[in-house]
Amino acid sequence: MTIGVIGSGAMGAGIAQVAAVAGHNVVVYDNNTAALEKGKASLTATLQKLQEKGKLANADEVLLRFSFADNIAAFTDCGLIIEAIVERLDVKKAVFADVEKAVSDTCILASNTSSLSITSIAAACRKPGRVMGLHFFNPAPLMALVEVIPAIQTNPELIPFAKELMLKWGKTPVIAKDTPGFIVNRVARPFYSEAIRICEEGIADMATIDWAMTELGGFRMGPFTLMDYIGHDVNYVVTETVFQSFFYDPRYKPSFSQKRLLEAGWLGRKSGKGFYNYADGAPIPTANKDEVVGTQIVERVLAMLINEAVDALYLNVASAADLDLAMTKGVNYPKGLLQWCDEWGADKCLEKLDGLYHQYHEDRYRASILLRKQAIGNKKIV
Ligand SMILES: NC(=O)c1ccc[n+]([C@@H]2O[C@H](COP(=O)([O-])OP(=O)(O)OC[C@H]3O[C@@H](n4cnc5c(N)ncnc54)[C@H](O)[C@@H]3O)[C@@H](O)[C@H]2O)c1
Repeated sequence: MTIGVIGSGAMGAGIAQVAAVAGHNVVVYDNNTAALEKGKASLTATLQKLQEKGKLANADEVLLRFSFADNIAAFTDCGLIIEAIVERLDVKKAVFADVEKAVSDTCILASNTSSLSITSIAAACRKPGRVMGLHFFNPAPLMALVEVIPAIQTNPELIPFAKELMLKWGKTPVIAKDTPGFIVNRVARPFYSEAIRICEEGIADMATIDWAMTELGGFRMGPFTLMDYIGHDVNYVVTETVFQSFFYDPRYKPSFSQKRLLEAGWLGRKSGKGFYNYADGAPIPTANKDEVVGTQIVERVLAMLINEAVDALYLNVASAADLDLAMTKGVNYPKGLLQWCDEWGADKCLEKLDGLYHQYHEDRYRASILLRKQAIGNKKIV
């Protein structure tokens, strides 16, 4: 089956690489010729580097599987097309409607959107049943997780097909309901927002929170380091989109601190400055390695994260197994949040959340009804 990829940026090039390495012919289309050339050059360089490192035996053969096009007519023979263009609903809808005119009746159309409604994108198509979400993580060749997202219109037969194909591509597919942020971008919100809140309140500074979450919590990167790495143009925008899409549920409220960074153009590592300053010689802030404070930070953020995962389970966003797989394979959490809930104890997690709720009287800290039920007799989830 020939795979089409729309958009040759960071995600499009990565997805195209995964499909070609898995043996497919791949047509890459971008409406910007310079971006297309850049995508082509980066794919060529990446594949050759992989060969030099001994991680790929046949770079030249894989490169021959690609064709690069500046016109959607090149998609005629594709069986599956994955879109990875700018994160704007109006643009994605227009592109899906156009592409549908160029492909066969059986061609499947997928979007790699991080936060937009797949149902909305599908509604732009003549045959909405062929549309679904296939959400890869950055960098696509390295991150195992793919969220498979059926829209409410999606033909149910596409789900096992997509799952099987992703497994063939060496990926770990999980099925997510078409709800804002799907699994990872919904459940992970408190990792960022609660860390910022703790900092804004002056409970601890960024370096201390990052230290606590890595050294005591076991996370690979602290929240501020990670937000700077992702870039505030991406991370803040996802938070804002999820918040708006949840009809302004206070649990997902974005922060002014991060919005100001975006407004200032302090996007993180890529612009040399974000929460931290990456200029040569800039002072490196030191953490206050007080284990009592550190443990309070970890427990507060973790209680919020577990609550999100438990609530997503309660609302049938995904199965328990898929929720835990998503957080370990999509954002490298040291363990699944539901497993963590079982180990820590639903009762302790609830006690932490209720403590915050009584202290702040904010809906942000409301516990999921499922967490409340699990806490009675401290029942296990996984
Ligand atoms: N970057 C990430 O971390 C990440 C992770 C998961 C999902 N996503 C999602 O993947 C998509 C792409 O993100 P990205 O980071 O690769 O963006 P990017 O800016 O690196 O690349 C987007 C590409 O799409 C092209 N493009 C824009 N409009 C187009 C159109 N109308 N027709 C054809 N090509 C068009 C651009 O020229 C550009 O080359 C977005 O929906 C984003 O939310 C991004």
